[in-house]
Amino acid sequence: MFKIAVLPGDGIGPEITVQAVRVLEAVGRRYNHQFEFKEGLVGGAALDAMGTPLPAETLELCRTSDAILFGAVGGPKWDGLPLHLRPEAGGILALRKEFGLYANLRPVKVYPSLVGASPLKPELVRGVDIMVLRELTGGLYFGKKYWEPLPEGGFRVVDTLEYTTPEIERILRLAFELASKRRRKVTSVDKANVLGSSRHWREVASAVGEEYPDVELEHMYVDNCAMQLVKNPKQFDVLVTENMFGDILSDQASVLAGSLGMLASASLGSGIGLYEPVHGTAPDIAGKQLANPIAAILSAAMLLRFSLNLAEEADCIERAVAAVLEQGYRTADLMEDGKTRVSTAEMGDRIIEQIESQ
Ligand code: IPM
Ligand code: MN
Repeated sequence: MFKIAVLPGDGIGPEITVQAVRVLEAVGRRYNHQFEFKEGLVGGAALDAMGTPLPAETLELCRTSDAILFGAVGGPKWDGLPLHLRPEAGGILALRKEFGLYANLRPVKVYPSLVGASPLKPELVRGVDIMVLRELTGGLYFGKKYWEPLPEGGFRVVDTLEYTTPEIERILRLAFELASKRRRKVTSVDKANVLGSSRHWREVASAVGEEYPDVELEHMYVDNCAMQLVKNPKQFDVLVTENMFGDILSDQASVLAGSLGMLASASLGSGIGLYEPVHGTAPDIAGKQLANPIAAILSAAMLLRFSLNLAEEADCIERAVAAVLEQGYRTADLMEDGKTRVSTAEMGDRIIEQIESQ
């Protein structure tokens, strides 16, 4: 019996997460696994119900589970709150910190049937397969922050970017481990021409790289990387970078895959793993069954692979997604001429049918 904590959150979070749960149930039926799903409140939904974005009950639920399936948090309703109460900082960022989830794996894989869905030229995106590895518990997100009133009025507002040697080492080591099972190239992205923390990042990357003579290491400035991602994305295998750069570059890289609605992620540390789509709560389309559940469903596949060690079952989900796209089914975000438009739940139905028939 596997215990999964399900934290749907806000906006489209609930409607995509429920499809990921249905897919896991289908996998359970097919491969004879028992999953126990327990829901917890997080983000704005938790703020409204309990006055805090991360209630103690939710933390306890996560602590007693084998993995966390997360939707998305945030929305205009809570934008005016002080930072620590907001669904983002108080919800997902607090969870990442609490469980030491320092490594965020964001695969950007272009499905052959979605080559035309990207606004970039087909020959540019066909075959792209990048693992974006984002450091997730350091950098600007978690450095010292303060507001200091100025005597003349106004404020000095400070966010600091900090990294320690061990923090850089562990994420780089993972980058090399991942690359050694892929195409053996690590691109370490920094801003070493300006930032001290990036200079050290580069030194540590080079030192860790010495331990992996079979893996090529390349350093790249983040501004150049933003350009290279759209100019020649096939040069990348594993792209490793600090928290904020990784946040920005992964949204950008999603354009290669056709939609942010395709990007799954796994957040790993030394204990429990958390699985969430890269996209946000999309308040404009929430509750309308317009959202693409594939990012959530592929996140569930990563959950099987990384937390439950069920690689075959994870492959089964990924094959089902590829097959359904091959058959021409598309949610609104990926719609092209000649394709069949489906709702969020219908996309879940199609993927489950595939899992059952494979
Ligand atoms: C992401 C999101 C989060 C982040 C937000 C919701 C805090 O954009 O997971 O990429 O910035 O990390
Ligand atoms: Mn983001």
